[in-house]
Amino acid sequence: MKQILSCIQPTGNIHFGNYFGAIQNWVKLQEQYKCLYGIVDYHAMTMPYDPDTLRKNTYQMAIDLMACGIKAENVFIQSLIPEHTELCWILSCFTSFGELSRMTQFKDKSKQIAETSKNDFISTGLFTYPVLQAADILIYHADYVPVGKDQEQHLELSRNISVRFNQRLKKEYFVHPEPLFAEVPKLLSLADPTKKMSKSLGEKHYIALFGDEKRLRKKVRSAVTDSGAPTNGEMSAGVKNLFELLKVSNKKADYDALMDTYKAGNLRYGDLKAVVADALVEITNPFKEKRAELMSNRKQVKQQLQESSATIRLQAQKTLKEVRQLTGLPTLKNVRITV
Ligand code: TRP
Repeated sequence: MKQILSCIQPTGNIHFGNYFGAIQNWVKLQEQYKCLYGIVDYHAMTMPYDPDTLRKNTYQMAIDLMACGIKAENVFIQSLIPEHTELCWILSCFTSFGELSRMTQFKDKSKQIAETSKNDFISTGLFTYPVLQAADILIYHADYVPVGKDQEQHLELSRNISVRFNQRLKKEYFVHPEPLFAEVPKLLSLADPTKKMSKSLGEKHYIALFGDEKRLRKKVRSAVTDSGAPTNGEMSAGVKNLFELLKVSNKKADYDALMDTYKAGNLRYGDLKAVVADALVEITNPFKEKRAELMSNRKQVKQQLQESSATIRLQAQKTLKEVRQLTGLPTLKNVRITV
């Protein structure tokens, strides 16, 4: 059975863009593959951050993923498996400075720091971020990595590293992971449909998956539809976005009926918005219930995360044992490896 791996940063507040774009697909993949999903707290340290918030968000992200249907035994917290950083070091010796300098995410994020913060500190961690990501993937010999298009370059780097490693050490050891691009809907900000739905733009620009229902309805109600700019008889970006939300919410019948009304020139946007809001609420209600249950058992959930991470760690330790052997490092004694 093929191995799937993907990871998410503990950002604090998942929104419908994350759900429809990634998490929903992760849940489905669990039916057909061996899956591992990591919460990458080490990666979250590459940008300016607050320690207490990081720890809180890491556990919260795990709870949120489980509330959406990710199985507890498939979830790990990256830093509870410190072998990720050990492999990162080793792989960094198989990665060139030039390759990392070409990463567009590094260029974008360092520019963002320079523009938005008074302090223009750019960490080496931000630079070597893609090597840690390669370690996340290669340590579990993942065949497929479900990610968004924005991660294509990082995945290509992971493959270049695995190919180079195998060539230099003359052993077909690491697999060459392939990205798995799901059909990701382009969800736009409701407040400004010229932009992508994203948390970094601010509160107005995304709908939190676990937010208050009244807030959700209000955001949908005040979504920008026809901005007043001439659209030459074409559907405006805002209206298209509302229809897109209906489509990804699996409301085909409503979608078709409202689309016919639109084409006939009789659609009242208020009606469309009401149906969209209902559809979103319907999706999240069961998740919210599950989440509340997990939150009330926080202690057990944390314990469970420690255990799932410890179990998954055994695979990582096995890889490191083999990698240390291949790369000329001494054997590390007293490691419990049962896989
Ligand atoms: N860089 C990814 C992102 O920003 C997160 C990530 C870290 C990741 N390690 C990974 C994704 C390993 C897939 C596999 O979305």
